[in-house]
Amino acid sequence: MSVESLPIPEELLRQEAESIAAHYRVSADEALAALSQAFAGVPDLVRRIQLRHGEEDVTRWRAYREVVRECRQGLYYGLRRYYPLSDEAERVVGEFEQEVAASARAERVEELCERLLRLHASTRERHSSYAEFYERFFECAGVPATILDIGCGMHPLSYPFKGAGSGTKRYVAVDRDVCVIRAVSAHARVAGKRRLQAVRLSLDDPGWPSELPWRGPYELGVMLKVVPVLIRLDRAAVLGLQAAPVARLLLTGNVESLTRRQSIEARERSVLKRFIQNAGRQITGEFRVGNEFGYLAE
Ligand SMILES: C[S@@+](CC[C@H](N)C(=O)[O-])C[C@H]1O[C@@H](n2cnc3c(N)ncnc32)[C@H](O)[C@@H]1O
Repeated sequence: MSVESLPIPEELLRQEAESIAAHYRVSADEALAALSQAFAGVPDLVRRIQLRHGEEDVTRWRAYREVVRECRQGLYYGLRRYYPLSDEAERVVGEFEQEVAASARAERVEELCERLLRLHASTRERHSSYAEFYERFFECAGVPATILDIGCGMHPLSYPFKGAGSGTKRYVAVDRDVCVIRAVSAHARVAGKRRLQAVRLSLDDPGWPSELPWRGPYELGVMLKVVPVLIRLDRAAVLGLQAAPVARLLLTGNVESLTRRQSIEARERSVLKRFIQNAGRQITGEFRVGNEFGYLAE
């Protein structure tokens, strides 16, 4: 964004943008763009700021503080959503479905998978550490022949079916999110329909295991960043998780919060440990990669 196109003096916006970026997981440039847009929406205030800036501290004005507050709040809620732009997720899923149904060109499929992985907040933050993530994953859990990925998000799109995970012959992924299920089902046309299956279901329905295309028991249940989220938002679903027909479990949590620049590792570790204990299991392995740590439980 050029300095000339900023609605109010750059030093004012920079100061606020840096303060936002210090607290929330957005860059100063992203915060600057959001602030510019917010001020551009209040032209009367912008005119008064341009007149009075330099004569008085305009940052103390109530109207000024209100614009900044709303902008901070908007950024915060954006960070909490799985898809910052839900229309875009639907659009890219549609493109992906068309591509695999028509020509399934390898390069294009890979590019669309990449975009989908970046669109979902959970896979986006794993993005820079995939190679190491799967190294630790297989070191910890071996290569399971059967996997049940619970609250899968877009994760199956990154699973190395053709690489280190080629020994996985059956991968069932469940989630309640329509976009996720459409994307994973489309990916199954590439990975193998008998090998990868996506099922839309809600974990707060206690009968969910009976909706699985294969009842199990699966060698490995995968719950990546799922338990801490459900403990906060959906306790019924946490009870549902305990019913997963799996021999072993790989669970992960976050080191840093999705929204704020603060560590939540200690809290997430204790949540996972309590869940494992309540499930009557024991921790037999662990790892830490990027912003994520994991436990293997048997
Ligand atoms: C934090 S995301 C993790 C996604 C994925 N496991 C990963 O780490 O990339 C949590 C996922 O759980 C799903 N979810 C939340 N509540 C659910 C429920 N009651 N039933 C099924 N899925 C649920 C969400 O749609 C979301 O995809």
